[in-house]
Amino acid sequence: MYSDKVMDHFNNPRNVGVIADADGVGEVGNPVCGDIMKITIKVADDTVSDIKFQTLGCGAAIATSSVITEMARGMSIEDAVGITKARIAEELDGLPPAKMHCSILAADGLKAAVDDYLVKNGREPISGGPEHSDDDEHEVTCATPIIL
Ligand code: FES
Repeated sequence: MYSDKVMDHFNNPRNVGVIADADGVGEVGNPVCGDIMKITIKVADDTVSDIKFQTLGCGAAIATSSVITEMARGMSIEDAVGITKARIAEELDGLPPAKMHCSILAADGLKAAVDDYLVKNGREPISGGPEHSDDDEHEVTCATPIIL
């Protein structure tokens, strides 16, 4: 059901924890399944220089959170907010259709952290808000994250 990469990130999650002196904090939750995640980032020259996550959720939520920290480290904040659930799933060699919504949590957590960094520095948010579900009815009902 799950790719080797998903299982690897689930069993050995990278960058777990909280950056105490974070420049940006994103906390999002899925109101239906109750899963929640927190991403903290350090930013240098508008680039994500460090990133950690804490996720209380399903295995796919943990794997997608873990992999997005590897993807985003070293990226410009513009590129980081452009990471979509589809990119995350691709990076993990796919996710089962019923679990695609879990990757929205990770993408939106990072978006929220970048926007938090910008607002704290008197700048405009750039993420455009949470990534909304498309035509998958399951996602529409199960995965419209809320900003906590
Ligand atoms: Fe809630 Fe996966 S079931 S994020």
